[in-house]
Amino acid sequence: MNRPLATTERSLARPRYEHRGIDFGCDYNPEQWDRSVWREDVALMREVGISLVAVNIFGWSELQSPDGSLDFSGLDEIIGLLHDAGIRVNLGTGTASPPPWLTTRHPEILPVVSDGTTRFPGGRQAWCPSSPVFRQYALALVDAVAERYGEHPAVALWHVSNELGCHNALCYCDRSAAAFREWLRARYGSIAALNRAWGTSFWSQRYTDWEEIGTPRLTLSTRNPGQVLDFSRFSSDELLSYYRAEQAVIRRHSSAPITTNFMVTAHIRELDYWTWAPEVDVIANDHYLDHRLEHPAAELAFAADLTRGLSHGAPWMLMEHSTGSVNWQPHNLAKAPGQMLRDSLQHVARGADSLCFFQWRASVQGSEKFHSALIPHAGTDSALWREALELGDVLERLGEVAGTRVVADVALLFSWEAWWAADAENRPSEAVSYLDQVWAIHRALRAAGAEVDVVRPGADLSGYRLIVVPGLHLVRDQEAATVDAAVAAGAHTLITFYSGIVDENDRVRPGGYPAVWRDLLGIRVEEFAPVLPGDVVSLESGGRASLWTERMVAHDADVVDRFVGGPAAGMPALTRRRGTAGDGDAWYLGTFPDEAALARILDDVLTAAGANRLADAHADVDVVRRAGTDRTYRFIINNGTDDLVHRARGTDLVTGEGVSGSIRIPAGAVRVIREDMTS
Ligand code: GLA
Repeated sequence: MNRPLATTERSLARPRYEHRGIDFGCDYNPEQWDRSVWREDVALMREVGISLVAVNIFGWSELQSPDGSLDFSGLDEIIGLLHDAGIRVNLGTGTASPPPWLTTRHPEILPVVSDGTTRFPGGRQAWCPSSPVFRQYALALVDAVAERYGEHPAVALWHVSNELGCHNALCYCDRSAAAFREWLRARYGSIAALNRAWGTSFWSQRYTDWEEIGTPRLTLSTRNPGQVLDFSRFSSDELLSYYRAEQAVIRRHSSAPITTNFMVTAHIRELDYWTWAPEVDVIANDHYLDHRLEHPAAELAFAADLTRGLSHGAPWMLMEHSTGSVNWQPHNLAKAPGQMLRDSLQHVARGADSLCFFQWRASVQGSEKFHSALIPHAGTDSALWREALELGDVLERLGEVAGTRVVADVALLFSWEAWWAADAENRPSEAVSYLDQVWAIHRALRAAGAEVDVVRPGADLSGYRLIVVPGLHLVRDQEAATVDAAVAAGAHTLITFYSGIVDENDRVRPGGYPAVWRDLLGIRVEEFAPVLPGDVVSLESGGRASLWTERMVAHDADVVDRFVGGPAAGMPALTRRRGTAGDGDAWYLGTFPDEAALARILDDVLTAAGANRLADAHADVDVVRRAGTDRTYRFIINNGTDDLVHRARGTDLVTGEGVSGSIRIPAGAVRVIREDMTS
């Protein structure tokens, strides 16, 4: 149960989730409502065009009594009502949160945080991923639910638990420590190998027995980074093993596809979804705009591209997003009129064939009573409901888009492991974060109209014209070699600072950074020289940069730009090793340029690589294309404040109007053109 999971492992005989056009779906929590409301709800779902409904996500305490007896009458009724209305069911296993009777009876299942204190029931997800007791009770419930509904014709999809690891990914209890030790034994085989991997000769940390090893609870100083990194890997694997356990139970009773909702978002980083993706029958993601960020819309676009990457380009599901505000940010902003449609179609543009919301009807009690929903507290006489009706109409008209794919010729390498390693304690600058680098590069590519696939290190890179590697701190030798091979085959690459520094054991490769790509880039970095937040570093080109400089020698590359001031004054900031004999160019960026300077750099890099660019894209306008064998659809999403005139020929599926030459896209509007292939 606790062995490290081989990343290539994959269950056989995978059932497929069949999207029906673009599914319009929602979470429904009927247990929060009197049964008299249920019929009205189902009638309204039909009116708005809902075709897929997730139920029983938090159903456990409704279904099961302390004596173990089960009452399915409510679930029977609601599934029956939905089925009679022709609405498919995305059936939760109900295990997301244990009922109070269980945590009272077995307090040992409660999670423990890094300072060693317990977290108590009264919220949600109060369970330790390594608890055998929790697993035993949860799997018994899953067995009963799957047995009862496994062959129900309404069940189109199984929804395991909910956002696994949203709150409880890292548990530091003694049971978790024992499971961690088992995982480490399987990974390293011997204590000596573990000592080598974690570099325990440092600070007198050498272990002599497995029993000496615990979870990386808080220390007086900082913790062993190897231990922390492995604990992240272990924790991701542990929850994945839990997912697999639920999956195996469901499979005994049902042949319907199974998934769980991922959290490819800004604030959750605990699960390595590259290892999870092969285990689910369809990739499903939850995404909420995060107004704590400087560029929430750009983050949405990145998350959608990454979700498509997890799906290997195949259509995926947006399992949750919101009609308006959420309730869990410090300032929960409403969406502007039209924004719900725009944000929704941003996901569809980037490959989603299902668009689902949390939730159907706004709760009137509980922690989420001020979270938006399809039916707000104001009821159906509301702008939100009218926007939901409009969205339902548009999604129906977009049905023909389903099954088409984004075709990208730029690949961006992204890794959760690299994120864990890059943002560790004791790094060169706390002001530099992995995601900030990734987002900045993706934002610039998006604004340049490039079509970008986000792929894992080591993925097949053939077919891409440009490979972008932002801040990929941890990379294995063989993963790094795929970039070299792609460049040798003619692709271009852009690698940015702090990439390729450590191996999978977080061990620095000595001899000058980035050792693993020094030859490819023709440079050698001798020393990092970050600058204080707020300080500006000028570049010879006139551009401005911040946060990071480094002392570098370009021994086999052209110096395209140099630092004028700062700790690396006079040294290269941007280099280019020109390809010869069919190789592509290898660019290296050793700083964090501002938006304008980065746009210029990417303009040059994309042009040199010959990458495709969609016209009219810029920071506030997304232009994305989905293609099928005989048709293409162009999404133009105008997030800006100015109207836009875009050249196109075909039919706009949003308004139904023909487009012969150009189309006006008002500020805040979105258009989806079925392109005329004959023009
Ligand atoms: C998550 C959960 C939902 C709900 C929403 C609120 O995505 O899965 O149950 O709490 O957040 O935004």
